[in-house]
Amino acid sequence: MADDDNRNLLREIERRRTFAIISHPDAGKTTLTEKLLLYGGAIQLAGSVKAKRGRVSAVSDWMEMEKERGISITSSVLQFPFRGLAMNLLDTPGHADFSEDTYRTLHAADGAVMLLDCAKGVEAQTKKLFRVCKQRKMPIFSFVNKLDRPGREPFDLIGEVENVLGIGVYPITWPIYRGATFRGIYHREKKQVTLFDDKAARSSSLAGSHEVAPVAVTGVDDPLLKKELDEEGYRRFMDEYELLEAAGDAFDRDKFMAGDVSPMFFGSAMNNFGVEAFLEDFCGRMPPPAPHHASTGNIAPDAPFSGFVFKIQANMDKAHRDRIAFFRVCSGKFDRNMKVLHVRTGKTMRLANPTTFLAAERTIVEDGYAGDVIGLYDPGVFEIGDTLTAGKAFKYDEIPSFAPEHFVRVSMMDPMRRKQMKKGLDQLAQEGTIQLYTPERGGDPILGAVGRLQLEVVKFRLKSEYDVDARIEPMSCEFARWVSREDGEDVDLLRFDRERLGVPARDVRGRPVVLFAGDWQLNSAKREMSGINYAETARGLAATNPENP
Ligand code: G4P
Repeated sequence: MADDDNRNLLREIERRRTFAIISHPDAGKTTLTEKLLLYGGAIQLAGSVKAKRGRVSAVSDWMEMEKERGISITSSVLQFPFRGLAMNLLDTPGHADFSEDTYRTLHAADGAVMLLDCAKGVEAQTKKLFRVCKQRKMPIFSFVNKLDRPGREPFDLIGEVENVLGIGVYPITWPIYRGATFRGIYHREKKQVTLFDDKAARSSSLAGSHEVAPVAVTGVDDPLLKKELDEEGYRRFMDEYELLEAAGDAFDRDKFMAGDVSPMFFGSAMNNFGVEAFLEDFCGRMPPPAPHHASTGNIAPDAPFSGFVFKIQANMDKAHRDRIAFFRVCSGKFDRNMKVLHVRTGKTMRLANPTTFLAAERTIVEDGYAGDVIGLYDPGVFEIGDTLTAGKAFKYDEIPSFAPEHFVRVSMMDPMRRKQMKKGLDQLAQEGTIQLYTPERGGDPILGAVGRLQLEVVKFRLKSEYDVDARIEPMSCEFARWVSREDGEDVDLLRFDRERLGVPARDVRGRPVVLFAGDWQLNSAKREMSGINYAETARGLAATNPENP
C-alpha cells in the first residue's frame, strides 16, 4: 500500500508543470492564456471574441466555465490539463496591478514563458520580470507574438533578447514571409513547414475553435513551399535558414535548465497560429517540479509535504474580512485537514479549509501535490515566505524583497485615528504589497511600493477597513538603499538629513534605509560618506552584512 502511495505521489508530481507568462502589457498574455486553455480542452468556446471584450469579462466567463466543467480557473492560478499533464499557470499581474506580488509569484513558478510583441521586442516590464527569472535560474521559453502584423526582423529580435537580457536564444520555429506577408513557420526539429492560412485562421478564431487547418509540407525543399512563397520569399527564407543552420550549435538542455538559453517560437496567439507547436514542445521540454533549496539543503519533491507562502491577499471576500495566503506546495502530497508545522512560530496547525481562489463560491481543495498552489485561510498567522511542513522543521530560502520605485508620505485628516492608521499600515506592510518606513527625523510615515497603484489601494483600504481618512503626498524620491557600514558600526543616519544627501529612515524591522532623489544624490552621498554599503534590497543588506540579517 505504502509503495502504491509512493508510486502515485511520484506519478502526480511528474505530471505537474508550474509556470508563469512574463510580458509587457498588451503583448497578448490574456489571448495566449486563453488559447492554452483552449488547447488543453479546458474551454471549447471561449474564442477571441470574448477575450476582446476585455480582461474582466474573460475572467468571469472562465468562472462560469469553471462551474460547468469542474476546472479551477481564477485570475491568480489557472489549472488545466493538457495531454495527461497538470498545468499550473500562475498569473503575473501587469498593467496598473503591477506590484511586488508580481515578482513574488515568479518564486512559486518552476519556469516562465516570455511573450514578446514582434513589433516591440523587449519592453520595460518584461525586462523587470525577466531579471527575477534569471536570478532564479529557471527555464525560460520565448514566444514572439502578433506575427500576422508587420514586425521587426526575427534576427533583430533575437539580437535584442540576447544583448538586452543576456540569454542565448535557440529558435525552434522560424517565421516565413511572402513579401511583407506572414506565411507560416518552419519547425527546425520536425523539419516541417506549417503555412498560415489567414482566412481559415480568421474564421476559426471567430468561431473559437482551434482547428485551423494548417497546410503542412515536408521540408524546405518541398515544391509546394516554393510555390507558396514567391521566388523572393523563398530566397529570403533559405538565406535565413542557412544562417540558422550555420550557427550549428545543437540545443543545450543544461543551459536551458539553468536559464541561459531560451527556446524561441513564433506565431499569432489571436489567430491560434504557432500556439500548438509551442505547447507541444513546452510539454516535452518544461521540467516537472525540481528540488527547492532550504536551510537544511535541497528538499526533494517527493519528501513529506512542505511548501511556502508567496502571497497574501486580504479581504478577497468582503463578507468574510479574512485573508488568503497563497501557498506553493514544494514537496509531497497535501491532504485536507492534515496537521503541519508552522516553522516560524513553532506551532502545529491543521489545514482545514484550503481553497481555490477568487471564485464567487470558494471551492475546497481535497488534495494537492508538489507543484500546485493552494489558498490557505489566514486568520493573521502567515507572513510572506513562511514555511509549512509535515516533516521536521526547516525553512525555505527567503523570498527577496524588491526595490520600491514610488514613495509617498502618509498623513491622516483626523489625528485621533493615529492608532488605527498604525494598525492598518502595519497589516498592509505585513501583506507585503507596500513597504513602510519610519523617517529617522520623525514625522509622517513613508510608504514605498513597486507599483503606483498599490499606494492608491492603501489609501482606499485605510478608509474602508480601518475608517481612516489618509492623505498621501508623493515624494521626489526615486529609489531606496539599505545602508550599512563596512566596519560594522552604526551608520550616522541623521547626517544624510543634515547634509541633504537623502531621506534617512528605518524599515519595519528597524533596518536603516535612505531614500534618494536620483543617482546624482546617491553619488554625492557616496562621495561625502565613505565606508558605507548601499544595498538595493533589504536582502542585499543581509548579503553585504551577515551580522545584520
Ligand atoms: P495582455 O494580456 O498582454 O495585455 O494582452 P491581450 O491578450 O489583452 O492583447 C492585447 C491586444 O493584442 C488585444 O487587442 C489582442 O486582441 C491583441 N493580440 C493578441 N494576440 C495577437 C496576435 O497574435 N495578433 C494580433 N494582430 N493582435 C493580437 P486590443 O486591440 O487591445 O483589443 P481588442 O480590440 O482586440 O479586443
